[in-house]
Amino acid sequence: MAIQKKFAQLKKSGEKISVLACYDYAFARLVDGTVDALLVGDSLNNVVYGEPKTSTVSLETMLLHSRAVARASEKSFVVGDMPFGSFGTPKYATTNAKKFLEAGCHAVKVEGFSEGVAKAIREAGVPVMGHIGLTPQTAEGFSVKGRNAAEAEKIMRNALALESEGCFAIVLECVPASLAKKISSSLRIPTIGIGAGKHCGGQVLVLHDVLGLLPDFRPKFVKRFANLAGNVSGAAQKFDKSVKNGKFPAKKYSY
Ligand code: KIV
Repeated sequence: MAIQKKFAQLKKSGEKISVLACYDYAFARLVDGTVDALLVGDSLNNVVYGEPKTSTVSLETMLLHSRAVARASEKSFVVGDMPFGSFGTPKYATTNAKKFLEAGCHAVKVEGFSEGVAKAIREAGVPVMGHIGLTPQTAEGFSVKGRNAAEAEKIMRNALALESEGCFAIVLECVPASLAKKISSSLRIPTIGIGAGKHCGGQVLVLHDVLGLLPDFRPKFVKRFANLAGNVSGAAQKFDKSVKNGKFPAKKYSY
């Protein structure tokens, strides 16, 4: 089933949609089928490459990681995040969106609202997800968006515009729960929240946050469902000790 049909079905049934941002083959294999979709988010520039902004990741890097996640995913849908600078005009956006389908993705995500971009991508046969509220590609630092009436109205306007351009879902990032509720009930398509409260049609988090692998990163909206940071450094310490005291490799690990 196509992703847009599945998401529409989930919205209709009232079942919530789960999405995890995931960037590589090994993790994608582990979580494939546990959630509705994997998003190869441009947050990989922070999480994987240690860069301060998402806006400097290249299209080539996004396609490389998209291919790896798509190769591992048999059950979950895969959504590729179009990086900053890759969708400046409808024509350029269309050319690049098609590259994500060629890389094995089922859909793309585009940040912000730029007239005609989502429509062109959709008309080229690529399912497209919007992303409004806090849009890290262009935001200066972190802040909740839509707290005042003018900003809230603009986010609502953009949500309606993205829906009418053919988006099959919209990520709402860091907006008050009351605004997310209003937007979610005004749209026919599902909203996917991150820091947007419980009234969205679904939720997205970064897999590394869910696993508790980033001990220094703890925004309010992140819930850790595991605490694996200690397991990782603990295993590395045990390996180091075994190498140094000569216990590894024992005979059974040797040829
Ligand atoms: O890049 C990303 O991981 C995202 C999600 C946080 C929505 O855009």
